[in-house]
Amino acid sequence: MSGENPFRDPLRYESGVPPCAVIIFGANGDLTRRKLIPALYRLAYNRLLPCGFAVIGNSRTPLSDEAFRDRMRQAVTEFLDDTPFQTDVWDVLARALFYVPGDIADPGVYERICTKAEETARRFQTGGNIIFYLATHPSQYTTIAAGLGASGLARGPGLRRLVIEKPFGHDLESARALNRDLQKYFDESSIYRIDHYLGKETVQNILAFRFGNGIFEPLWSRHFIDHVQITAAETIGVEGRGAFYQQAGALRDMVQSHLLQVMATMCMEPPAAWEPDAVRDERAKVLRSIRVMKPEEVPLNAVAGQYGPARIGDTEVPGFRQEPGVDPESQTDTYAAATFFVDNWRWAGVPFYLRSGKRLPKRVTDVAIQFHAAPLAVFDSVSNGKAASPNLLIVRIQPEQGISLRFLSKQPGIGMKLRPVSMDFHYGQSFGSRQSWDYETLLVDAMRGDPALYIRQDAIEASWAAVDPILKVWADERFDFPNYPAGTWGPKAADEMLARRGHAWRNP
Ligand code: BG6
Repeated sequence: MSGENPFRDPLRYESGVPPCAVIIFGANGDLTRRKLIPALYRLAYNRLLPCGFAVIGNSRTPLSDEAFRDRMRQAVTEFLDDTPFQTDVWDVLARALFYVPGDIADPGVYERICTKAEETARRFQTGGNIIFYLATHPSQYTTIAAGLGASGLARGPGLRRLVIEKPFGHDLESARALNRDLQKYFDESSIYRIDHYLGKETVQNILAFRFGNGIFEPLWSRHFIDHVQITAAETIGVEGRGAFYQQAGALRDMVQSHLLQVMATMCMEPPAAWEPDAVRDERAKVLRSIRVMKPEEVPLNAVAGQYGPARIGDTEVPGFRQEPGVDPESQTDTYAAATFFVDNWRWAGVPFYLRSGKRLPKRVTDVAIQFHAAPLAVFDSVSNGKAASPNLLIVRIQPEQGISLRFLSKQPGIGMKLRPVSMDFHYGQSFGSRQSWDYETLLVDAMRGDPALYIRQDAIEASWAAVDPILKVWADERFDFPNYPAGTWGPKAADEMLARRGHAWRNP
């Protein structure tokens, strides 16, 4: 039988990753096509899959194994980025792809999946280990967990892990309720909550930069840092996800999740050891230290925006309210900015400005750390006051990946004229590769049982606690939307929010 397993032969997979089957619910959906299967292909290409491996996809659409493989092949060729598509690699992966159609509300589907899992365990030596990946609409998580529980699939023999995608609830209460439901069938230690930003190389590199080097950490506090800006700007609109996005909005979709995780990574204390729970403890502590806004503080510290129609270059871009599936009176935020404070000894008094929006002028995600100005501006008189606060450290997360440090330098020539210059590190130049590894990293971590880059429930609750007051105030507000034209840097109120503290957004 082992001759059937393509991961033993001909490519000799020796990744050291323990064997398992991945069962994907929502296998006909966007996440599976755009991210999961291309990530598995790239793992196969890089010889990083376990030597016992299979994938079983489920969704309602009736498809044969062959038809599923064809669709996935098309998805891989479409969404592969910079890895070459090689037929021999694809064929190896495709032989281990299976499909079980059926409605997740029907108990029969879990029996069929169970039979298929047993069969693949024998044929592909998966060791009976299973990772359930819920790539469905979040409203289906509880039904699937209950189905897995009732059918016995949630229990061993073999390891069981449940990977779920955000959003984990839509506020603190619903996040707690979801967790109670999932924990009826899965232990907290086997629930892997994914935030793909934590899998990004450049976000992980914040830890390497801070804790692998001795020279930055002494500067990493209120004593040297004036404020921090975290930006995730997208040029795209809602890309056919209008109906879903309308229920979420930018504050939930990006700030509560990705940006607060990046902020926690930037602010956390060094972990006691490089162990998953030690790392997760430190991230959670930061999130728990975020000052919770009082309702009357929300208008001063949070700004909602929604893009209106505009002409960008030669293209007429519709406003959010004109997007398919969106209510023409929609009050949903497609832009959100907020000022947070981390009330601990290291960060007391340092504003963290977070912003994210759709249809902004540029796709860019970065963290800009503004250091205090020199205590005495001795050169001010000769440099026209431009010497103020020159020191900026920018962690570029995407699309450029790297780190820049800005400082003042003497301009060549007569006299003391100063000008800001940069010292730059580019991933591409140093490592010769710019490909994104987020889903690959996270999938392998789930297979290896390393949850360091996954989010624990206490961290989820703490991040909801930080944004809940804003959501509550916004729910009762009638915004005068749209308040920024597509292709611009968001509403004026976001500039005013920073100006009140004497700061301004950096236009990346
Ligand atoms: C997702 C959001 O979590 O992240 C999307 O739901 C957003 O709205 C996406 O576009 C951004 O991810 P990335 O990796 O492209 O920055």
